[in-house]
Amino acid sequence: KQIVLVGAPVDDGAGQKGCLMGPDAIRTAGLLEQLEALGHVVADHGNLTPSKAFEVASPNPVLKNFRSYAGWTRALHAKSWELGLQSVLPIYLGGDHAMAAGTVSGQARAAAELDRPLFVLWLDAHSDFHTLDSTDSGNLHGTPLAFACGLPGFDELLGAPLEHTVCPGNVEILGVRSIDAAEREMLLSHGVGVSDMRRVDEDGIASSLKPFLDRVRAANGLLHVSLDVDFLDPEIAPAVGTTVPGGATFREAHLVMEMLHDSGLVTSLDLVELNPFLDDRGKTARLMVDLTGSLFGRRVFDRPTRSF
Ligand code: ARG
Ligand code: MN
Ligand code: MN
Ligand code: MN
Repeated sequence: KQIVLVGAPVDDGAGQKGCLMGPDAIRTAGLLEQLEALGHVVADHGNLTPSKAFEVASPNPVLKNFRSYAGWTRALHAKSWELGLQSVLPIYLGGDHAMAAGTVSGQARAAAELDRPLFVLWLDAHSDFHTLDSTDSGNLHGTPLAFACGLPGFDELLGAPLEHTVCPGNVEILGVRSIDAAEREMLLSHGVGVSDMRRVDEDGIASSLKPFLDRVRAANGLLHVSLDVDFLDPEIAPAVGTTVPGGATFREAHLVMEMLHDSGLVTSLDLVELNPFLDDRGKTARLMVDLTGSLFGRRVFDRPTRSF
């Protein structure tokens, strides 16, 4: 499958400026070259711009930059729907996590048209499961997963109710260690899969991930992976505005990517929340590129593919 890179310099969903430089930093760190060296055919579609021509009313005064969120969601939803119907594997280069409202919902629409269930693996310190009502911070990067799962109150984003939503039971949030009270309630009532860092500590990250991959395979599902930089421990990945201590280690993160590769299940990917302004000589950008390399087949030593 051809890999398509799509830059989404979304900057208005995070509390801090700088994610708009993310796509360029990921390119500078050599993503395209790395994927080509692994034998993939890669096309870079450049950076998207948000839709502009529409009226919108913010449903809650606490929300920051709601119009921008709606513009990006519309543009990314359309692009992700389009690419989701083609036989390519899109990688969306963020941009803060608000962009996933568009990428995941577009992918869900494509999956529905292809008659395949969409599964989502959310690799993140946070659950990003706020509604436009429940968020206290007003930072819209805390809401995309709730939108994609069809929680109420998001109709202004696309100008119409979301028609094709992700089944909350087909979502797995892995590596999470910061969940707000309102999110916890909604995660529980909607049956979202959550493997927090406590589970990772006790069971290991491979055992935490494997049952989910087995379900995706059994259902012949599509799998969208959304990788937030803050999934990683801040020691190895400082370039993010929302660091939370106790994240995935270098080895754990690579193992997740290697398992995803061996599973052969991944059909689309977000690389989000990289804030190059906060980086340490490109260290985080390079790590994100390296991890993507593991997801696309780089391995330390050739051995027969184990199935995950
Ligand atoms: N739950 C917090 C909030 O709503 C943090 C969200 C962080 N999200 C992210 N994509 N980094 O503000
Ligand atoms: Mn996030
Ligand atoms: Mn339809
Ligand atoms: Mn996060």
